[in-house]
Amino acid sequence: ESVNDHPFRARVAIIGGSGLYRLPGADRVAEIETPYGPASAPISLIGGRRPGDHGPDGPAVAFLPRHGSGHSVAPRQVNYRANLWALKSLGVEAVFATAACGSLVPELAPGSFVLPDQFIDRTWGRADTFFDGTGPGAAAGVQHLSAADPYCPGLRDVLASALADARIPYAASGTMAVINGPRFSTRAESRALAQTGAELVGMTQYPEAVLAAELGMGYAALAFVTDSDAGASAGEAVTAEAVWERLAGASLVFERVLLAAARLVPEGYAPRKLLPDEAVARLMAAAAAS
Ligand code: ADE
Repeated sequence: ESVNDHPFRARVAIIGGSGLYRLPGADRVAEIETPYGPASAPISLIGGRRPGDHGPDGPAVAFLPRHGSGHSVAPRQVNYRANLWALKSLGVEAVFATAACGSLVPELAPGSFVLPDQFIDRTWGRADTFFDGTGPGAAAGVQHLSAADPYCPGLRDVLASALADARIPYAASGTMAVINGPRFSTRAESRALAQTGAELVGMTQYPEAVLAAELGMGYAALAFVTDSDAGASAGEAVTAEAVWERLAGASLVFERVLLAAARLVPEGYAPRKLLPDEAVARLMAAAAAS
């Protein structure tokens, strides 16, 4: 059996970050092999139809907790390539993710929801491309992704609608610095990040956003500000306890807004093509054959 003809299909996927490890309504799981190893957890499916089922139902929504079902995988150890590959192999075209983050500016207070539109990569050592001329992607050659607008504008609009429908205030854009973690930043690092133009700081948006784009999937994130980072702009320096406490209050909103957003993706949604179709097709074919 090839990795690409798994019996479960889904058009929209939700990647749960810190604080979101399951979604209501998930009634079956798919354990998917990828050429890059296992995804962070089995993928659960909500709604849709199983092969052979009858009756009306929308397409399934796939859910994958980025850090594993019990938050056992650190941000820099997440197998982002396996995670995105697994979703792609289900037929996913649109990915929504949650991202807990710190704020570097006073305007985005803890408790804020933000739809990031830019990131600044400050990570190192992460496997961040399918197309570096090695591994299963070798046949597709080296590819250079257009990353000027790494988040899908159409999917950010969908998230904005879902937030507005739920009467949840949000900031419509934001630049997220992505650090390697797992430790938080020093005060000096936090100040330096703010000076580079970052308004938020998190640990997982890179390379997740670009790997989705490399596979031709649209990607947008719902960021949630849990803290004011090292206190550069206001308040106390971040602690893990403070982050978890904030997140506990947000998980119901995450669930509600993300499932609503999944249903709001228009029937005719087509992801932007940031790489030639041919490159993605070659990658998938080479991996399926291996
Ligand atoms: N996730 C939540 N808060 C964070 C912070 N201050 N820095 C990096 N990642 C975070």
